[in-house]
Amino acid sequence: MITADKKMADLIHLNYLLVSVITRFDIRLGFGDKTIAEVCKENSVNTEFFLEIVNSFHDKEYFPGKHLQGFSIKLIIDYLSKTHQYYLTEKIPEIEQLIDQMVNKCYGHHKHAHLLRSFFKEYKEELISHISREDETVFPYASEVENAYLSKKESKQKQISQKGYHIDEYRSEHNNIEEKLFDLKNIIIKYLPSPENQALCSKVLSALFILEQDMNDHSRIEDNVLIPKVILMEKAIHTTNAI
Ligand SMILES: [Fe+2]
Ligand SMILES: [Fe+2]
Repeated sequence: MITADKKMADLIHLNYLLVSVITRFDIRLGFGDKTIAEVCKENSVNTEFFLEIVNSFHDKEYFPGKHLQGFSIKLIIDYLSKTHQYYLTEKIPEIEQLIDQMVNKCYGHHKHAHLLRSFFKEYKEELISHISREDETVFPYASEVENAYLSKKESKQKQISQKGYHIDEYRSEHNNIEEKLFDLKNIIIKYLPSPENQALCSKVLSALFILEQDMNDHSRIEDNVLIPKVILMEKAIHTTNAI
């Protein structure tokens, strides 16, 4: 288990994929021998929350849903939104570029290679609409619920009750955006002919595996931390207003 007294540099040596996670907390490399607690403090990051996020990212068995639920919705949403930005502004353009190169350099003019491009384009559109829904509807609603709950003001809570929207709507429709990545990998691994440049294919595959793993972690937080927390607050609000 990763603890606050561990050196931040050792955290990256332990799992280099955590570089992208610390970036979402606006923590930059170059931390010398400082501990996680020291670096978090310097960057005004909540150390406890940081530890829960890196532990659950690093070890799939370590998933203290209940513990993470103890943090504010604001904190959780801030992390989830930054992860969305990371997908949209870094990972997706990077993979798109690699796929373009791969289609041009690996399969000559094989008639099915261009399908990869259109498959990825479709995936990107799906991802953009998935993320917009969360950023524009779900997350603002979750914040409003938390504000109303914490304010203890009847008027604010009534507004939530009268909205007629429940986080359950999101829960039932929250689809698995990682599944399509599995299909995309299989096209490369199984169905396209042997590539002329396998090194390039292996780069694309690594990028897809890493993105899939990152997204699995992201969705787990949405499903097992954010949604149950909002449900509890909604229940409290609706019960108070029903009396
Ligand atoms: Fe998301
Ligand atoms: Fe999602």
